[in-house]
Amino acid sequence: MPIPVIADVDTGVDDALALLFLAAHPDIDLRAVTCVAGNASLAQVAQNTLDVLAVAGCEAPVACGVDRPLIEPARDAGSYHGANGIGNLALEPSPRQPEPEHAVELLRREIDASPEPVTLLSLAPLTNIALFLRLYPQTAAKLERIVVMGGTASAGNASAVAEFNVWHDPEAAQIVLTSDVPTTLYPLDVFNRVVATDEQITQLKDAATPHARLAAALLDYQLTLADLPADIASGAKLGDAGAAAFLVASEHFGVETWPVGVELSHGYARGQTVVDRRLRSGEAEEHGLMAPTVRSEVALTVDGPAVAASFINTVCGA
Ligand code: BDR
Ligand code: CA
Repeated sequence: MPIPVIADVDTGVDDALALLFLAAHPDIDLRAVTCVAGNASLAQVAQNTLDVLAVAGCEAPVACGVDRPLIEPARDAGSYHGANGIGNLALEPSPRQPEPEHAVELLRREIDASPEPVTLLSLAPLTNIALFLRLYPQTAAKLERIVVMGGTASAGNASAVAEFNVWHDPEAAQIVLTSDVPTTLYPLDVFNRVVATDEQITQLKDAATPHARLAAALLDYQLTLADLPADIASGAKLGDAGAAAFLVASEHFGVETWPVGVELSHGYARGQTVVDRRLRSGEAEEHGLMAPTVRSEVALTVDGPAVAASFINTVCGA
């Protein structure tokens, strides 16, 4: 039976890749997509999401959520994802409109209506999901789990120590990570290591279906960003699409459970995810200072080529 999934997105070049994968994979039933401000404005995110789903031939309902973080103003990532959020690609505008209801209401409706527990895949700042958890805790308790692309156990990207999705709305991330819903973090440590090769991009171009061609165009854009880890010589990062693949290819990942907290102060470290990988507590605890206490699963290692192959096979085969 396919896994029922709802994706929360800020589409986003790599969110677009994730949507193509989710729509194509036979073991995933994409029930709905909710949009939040992040890589681009909420209106742009919704348009991108509908346009990408149209190429994917997916009619899952799409709803708009919030247009800014809980406390701070929205700060987009246009310099990374292009002014329109999807690498300045001009997609055919979808004839569909977002649902009239708020994203949080669509989450409630879909999760309550599902006979099987739904997996919530967060590929964006966590504002919608934090509001959903606060407004509808009884519905949230029915979730299978939340898989969060966010955070880092090493270096950041939005800042030296913070990953963009958590940095954009740290309070929302802390609400999600400290909720009772089982959560798995998919941080930059694995996000950065799932990379498509030039040959795989050519394979997508040769597949010549609209969704494979779109994936190739998005990956061609990713190639221009040149932000790979030092030990990966070339290729295009799959980003959020790796987190989507994690739902059905978790055997390619090393997952550990550690206390995780979000730094909420307004200094250099705001939005840092503190993953406490110590084997014993230290002087900070001895002297009564705080450490994260809520444990979360964290994906820390990955067989990147295996996950990239799973993405390519799925999008080419669909
Ligand atoms: C995350 O932020 C966005 O730039 C990407 O879409 C991804 O969700 C990576 O930090
Ligand atoms: Ca994203």
